[in-house]
Order: sequence, then structure tokens, then C-alpha cells
Amino acid sequence: MKSILVIGSQWGDEGKGKVTNLYSKNADIVVRYQGGNNAGHTVKFDGKEFHLQTIPSGVFNKNTINILGNGMVINPIAVYKEMQTLIEAGFDCSNVIISSRAHVDLNYHLELDGLKERKLKEKQIGTTKKGIGPCYTDKISRDGIRFADFIDEDFPKIYKEHLKEKNELIEELGGNPIDYETSIEEYKKVIEFLKPHVKETVSFLAKARKENKKILFEGAQGSMLDIDFGTYPYVTSSNCTSGGALTGSGIGIGYIEGIVAIIKAYTTRVGEGPFVTELFDEISTTIREKAHEYGVVTHRPRRIGWLDLVQLRFSQNVNGFKHGALMLFDILSGLGDIKVCTAYELDGKIIDYVPASLKETYRCKPIYKTFKGWNEDISKCKTYDELPQEAKDYVEFIEKELGIKFVLISVGPDQKDTIIREDIF
Ligand code: IMP
Repeated sequence: MKSILVIGSQWGDEGKGKVTNLYSKNADIVVRYQGGNNAGHTVKFDGKEFHLQTIPSGVFNKNTINILGNGMVINPIAVYKEMQTLIEAGFDCSNVIISSRAHVDLNYHLELDGLKERKLKEKQIGTTKKGIGPCYTDKISRDGIRFADFIDEDFPKIYKEHLKEKNELIEELGGNPIDYETSIEEYKKVIEFLKPHVKETVSFLAKARKENKKILFEGAQGSMLDIDFGTYPYVTSSNCTSGGALTGSGIGIGYIEGIVAIIKAYTTRVGEGPFVTELFDEISTTIREKAHEYGVVTHRPRRIGWLDLVQLRFSQNVNGFKHGALMLFDILSGLGDIKVCTAYELDGKIIDYVPASLKETYRCKPIYKTFKGWNEDISKCKTYDELPQEAKDYVEFIEKELGIKFVLISVGPDQKDTIIREDIF
């Protein structure tokens, strides 16, 4: 395929980083299209470890162009720092392009994110406090600042006007006003550096497509955190589902040839909100420690639960994926019986969908199918055939239920710990 989209099918942290890293080696262009530095993944490279939050993983390949699409909200100071770290490590970042239509996640957005969360008290969303929600709010209310205007000579004036208004709000919420002079000095330094990277990206992508370039679209977060289809309001503020790739990059519908859903072999979530298959027993502790399930951005321990097919079917309906990547499969080894949720029980009735009502979702009880586990260490398996029969039963059950094929199965953190069943990109 010439263009594929890699998407998280659960609540994020499914292991997209490893897959996009793998596919980005073949990509001419990698595009991120939503979210900002609320995302985070670790890339291990030549014995070094890098934490990327805004920049796509193609940055390590000199010949791969990395686009930060128009659907993103980008903190210029954070992206500047991320680029500085990469430059110091020998990656010159000349292959990074920021869409002139992307919105600027400014210091007042970050401040407001924290203050709004504080005001919500026990109803907190548990955001990453990176300003994502307030920045998208400004975008939708047509009050945002885009990179085209950020690099314009009028930015100091525009920022001053916006800051005046935002400072009033900050003070109302009990925060300290942000100082204009200090902020603008820092922004000026960053603008100077970022200016050559800010470009018109829609025509760039169209040209690349016509030249038959290979394009990888890299989703952030996961489908259940989608602003429309996730467990609202405990979601992020962008469309993490496949539609977001179109609006967030400017690629036309029909130009993405395949979608690979990243599916973790169990479920995790960070932050608040309903989680029907959540576990509170020692299995969750074992999984958390074995897989080091702690947030890359916030370092919070992730909540753990069994695989939820109700959620995955919903995700499949919304995203339309036919291919999948099964991640962290080795973590299930030695756990004993393994459960998969096949339906929910809501007030005595069996349902096979995720309710829109939060109150109803909190009342849903999981109905499980139990699979016999396996004790073998599968992390050295190189082919599907080498997996124990019990592991294959688990894989094939999910494939059948979702009507998809797992093109790869991850059996360890390293790139080499991957069973490739089909080369699709
Ligand atoms: P926000 O995106 O910072 O506004 O946070 C909203 C919700 O999305 C919170 O529950 C966060 O924990 C969650 N979230 C945001 N980004 C990620 C991610 O990359 N992985 C997992 N959860 C995320």
C-alpha cells in the first residue's frame, strides 16, 4: 500500500510508537494530524532512548519528511525543546514541517487547563495539563492563533490582545496573570527558530501523493478518547478516529489505502472515566509492573483491565479498519486464565454497544469468555506458528470477532520482538 493510517483503537498507549516507528522506515512522509504534546512515546534508537511528544517518529530517517498537520495543537516552546534535543543527538530536524494552519498551544492555554481541572475538583477529566482542551476550544470558537499568524510580524500585537482577555479569566479562576514581556521574549526566540519549518502542507501532501510517495498517517491517543465517539466528557479534545486523519491533514477521502488498528492484548486507560473491564486485583498489578504501565507524559500509573470486544467492535465500526497490530502480547504469558469481554450487561439486559450515557456506562457489567492461558515465554517467537496453541486461539478469536487480520504481533518491546504476518506498507 502507498498510504496507511495507524490508529489507536482503545484509550491510547496501545503501542502505536513501535508500529509507526517500524512503518516509518519505509515512509517518504509521516503525518501527525491531531492532538499535541499530550501524546508521548519512547523510541529506542542506537542504544539511546528518545521521548517524542509532538514530532513523528520518522524524524530519525533523514529522507523522511515529518508533517505536523493542521489538525494539531502545537506548543511552540515544547516542539522547540524537542527539536533541540534531537539536534544535539545528531538529527538536524530539517525534515520537520509544521502546517501553517495548525493551532498554537500557548502558555495561557496551559494555565487555563490546570485551573479548569482544579475547579472541577472530583469531576476532573484528569487531563495531561498541556493546554489541549483550551486550545481546541479557542479553535472552535474562532479565537485561536494559527502558525501562519504566529510567525507573522503582527503576532506580538495579537498575543497581547488575547493575553489581556485570558489573564482576566485566569484571575477569575484564582490563577496568577501571565507576564506579557517575559512571554513575548521567549516566543520571539522560538519563532526565529521555527519560522523555516512552517509551511503550507495541503499542496505538499497532494504533490507527494501524485508522485506516488509512501505516506504514513500517525494517529495519537486512541479511539475511545475521541471527542465524538469516546467516553465523553472523559476524552481528549480532538478526533482520534480515522475521520480525524482527513480533516487534520487535508488528505482527501479515498487517498488512504489501509488502516491498521493498534490493539493492546488487554486494556489500559489513564485519567478518569468509565472502564467496564477494569481490574483491581493482583492481575492488574502484575500487568502494570511487567509492562511498565505508567504514562510517558504524566508518569501516572495506568488503569488496567481485560480486553473489551464491545469497545473494539465499536472502534472498528467508527474507524473501518481491516488490519490490526496486536501489541504487548507477551505480557499475557503466565497469567493463568485470560478473559475477554464479549458483551455488557446493562440493568439485566445484554447489550453489544458502548452507551452514550455516562451513567449507563458506569452501570455496565462485563460478560466474559475465558481462555486457557499459556506459560511459555513467547518473546522469542519469530513466526506465528511458533506461538502456543492457546495464544493462537486468543488471536484467532479476536480476528474473527472483529473481522480483521493481525498483520503483526508484538511479543516484546524491541523492534526485533515482532512477528510480521503480512507486509502491508
Ligand atoms: P488531554 O488530552 O490532556 O485534554 O486529556 C484528556 C484525557 O485524555 C485524559 O484522560 C488524558 O489522560 C487522556 N490522554 C491524552 N493523551 C493521551 C495519550 O497520549 N495516551 C493516553 N491517554 C491520553
